[in-house]
Amino acid sequence: MNPTLNTILSHRSIRKYEDKKIEKDKLESILKAACNGSTMGNMQLYSIIVTEDKEMMQTMAPHHFNQPIATNAPLILTFCADFNRFNKYCAFRGAVSDSYNNIQSYHWAVTDALIAAQNACIAAESLGLGICWLGTITFNVDKFIEILKLPENVIPVACISIGYPAENPPLTDKLPLEAMIHHECYSDYSEEKINRLYKDKEEHPNTKQLLTENDLPNIARIITEKRYVKKDNEYFSQVLSTALKNQKFL
Ligand SMILES: Cc1cc2nc3c(=O)[nH]c(=O)nc-3n(C[C@H](O)[C@H](O)[C@H](O)COP(=O)(O)O)c2cc1C
Repeated sequence: MNPTLNTILSHRSIRKYEDKKIEKDKLESILKAACNGSTMGNMQLYSIIVTEDKEMMQTMAPHHFNQPIATNAPLILTFCADFNRFNKYCAFRGAVSDSYNNIQSYHWAVTDALIAAQNACIAAESLGLGICWLGTITFNVDKFIEILKLPENVIPVACISIGYPAENPPLTDKLPLEAMIHHECYSDYSEEKINRLYKDKEEHPNTKQLLTENDLPNIARIITEKRYVKKDNEYFSQVLSTALKNQKFL
């Protein structure tokens, strides 16, 4: 197997890190890889905030719900959808850039930011580092906007902790390829197919442990009743919707 595929197929999230700073040249390679991805119209509609200062991590930690990975890694990268820089470029060149305060433009910028984020992850892992995403960046977006001093037309969409692994977990169980791949057109899921596709996951030792811990009969109920519940999703959707308006994306 070639080294690129080997890196990608060896991915598993790392949540414990050595107390060791990431070398400058490695950080630069990660950032270069992040900024060399495909991007809408080559506009590079993202910015990356590099956090190495532990005090800054501590300030953000409560809004990451005090997950250990918010403070135990030597490096946090926050990827923002960013139309601010391109709008400024247009303004300084006498171009009218009033076409980008809409959901289409937001979608482009989010896509660009996520491509940059995943490129950074693969680069970091190829250098022997471990990574973990912090989805919590998408919850209290208003707080991160304030702490990171994000101007209008900039909104955080992804956050990654990076460091030397201090654990070596096995690969995380995944659905079989057949679950995600459709040939030529979408092939919808019958109950029988869902049963087949989720069988291995449901019988996985990790799942058995989760069910016991949560006292619930399946993963679907753990996710919907405990992990990502309606009340929270509605509340944080409102926070996001307000932030998108305040940041002049919508
Ligand atoms: C958008 C996104 C948000 C995530 N947020 C968190 C998080 O807040 N905390 C965490 O420990 N892991 C987080 N993860 C990691 C996932 O839990 C992990 O990728 C998933 O369980 C699959 O495991 P693997 O990465 O080891 O293959 C996130 C992953 C993604 C893609």
